[in-house]
Amino acid sequence: MSSSVVTVVAPVNIAVIKYWGKRDEELILPLNDSVSATLDTSVMCAKTSVFASSNITCNEIWLNGKKESFSNKRLINCLDAIKSIAAKEKSVDDDFLSWNVRVCSVNNFPTAAGLASSAAGYACLVTALAKLYNLKSDVSCVARLGSGSACRSVYGGFVQWHAGTDPSGKDSVATQIAEASHWPEMRALILVVGDKAKKTSSTRGMNITAQTSELLKHRIQHCVPQRTTSIIQSIKERNFPKFAEITMKDSNQFHAVCMDSYPPFVYLTEVSHKIIEIIHKYNDLCGGIKVAYTFDAGPNACLYLLEEEVPKMISIIKHFFPSTTPDNLVTGLESTSELVSSDFL
Ligand code: DP6
Repeated sequence: MSSSVVTVVAPVNIAVIKYWGKRDEELILPLNDSVSATLDTSVMCAKTSVFASSNITCNEIWLNGKKESFSNKRLINCLDAIKSIAAKEKSVDDDFLSWNVRVCSVNNFPTAAGLASSAAGYACLVTALAKLYNLKSDVSCVARLGSGSACRSVYGGFVQWHAGTDPSGKDSVATQIAEASHWPEMRALILVVGDKAKKTSSTRGMNITAQTSELLKHRIQHCVPQRTTSIIQSIKERNFPKFAEITMKDSNQFHAVCMDSYPPFVYLTEVSHKIIEIIHKYNDLCGGIKVAYTFDAGPNACLYLLEEEVPKMISIIKHFFPSTTPDNLVTGLESTSELVSSDFL
């Protein structure tokens, strides 16, 4: 054999308890546990092919059709970690392990616009490499070395990333709380408000926050532990109002800690705030919580809601944002945790 190729598709995950702040930059160890739902790969995903050959003279990476440098430290860390597990497991022969790799990855959604592109990208890369080298071990802790949130995309359904306490990071891993089929009515509706790359990257933003925000300390000690326990319980009980309330409060607190950082940085736009207002008004009119919003490090909203609410929500969004066209709405609700995407730039 003189070459081998593997292609993998990995989904985006959207956190309901946000990861924000690291205790170790190099190993990407978080200050707090986080919880997310992994979305269906049919609408938002990364697709990565890895090719190993004795004929490739140096490692190469192509992102969305453009050749990039392989000098990125996180990328090298992931490849090295996978190769060192392969050497330990003796899963491939030494010759194969010594070959260089060519990585080609594409996202079917805006990169670096706060839509968890790095999570899907690194989860995909690491899963593809693990297949290439025939690994048996769990690779969520290797995906974590690429981008913290990527470790959650290694699993489907509802996932917890345990912060862990070990300085080596061996217990900072993701585990599945429940499969998507446990809550088949759950849906995510992504509202693409902007597709520009964010001004403050997650890595830089959380660094500033960890160094300067008093509110972050309060969040980590007094809010996240209780919220994590409660939201896991709400998932197990399929208690939507409880799930939704915690999701919205945690998103709001995450954006508040960004404002509490020095210098502050803001990811939400006027449209994001309008969406927040609409959801609260809608829930008030319904006399109970029917829809939750959450925003990552960007202006785009992810709405969590039950299937029966989806058509109503889409009509409301179209009403308030008339430039939304049917072409911008990708609907397909037949499978579990299916995603609907709406673009109303
Ligand atoms: C707001 O995982 O992108 O989406 O570990 O520095 O690569 P790095 O950061 P990243 O941060 C994601 C932050 C978030 C919240 C979350 O997904 O939990």
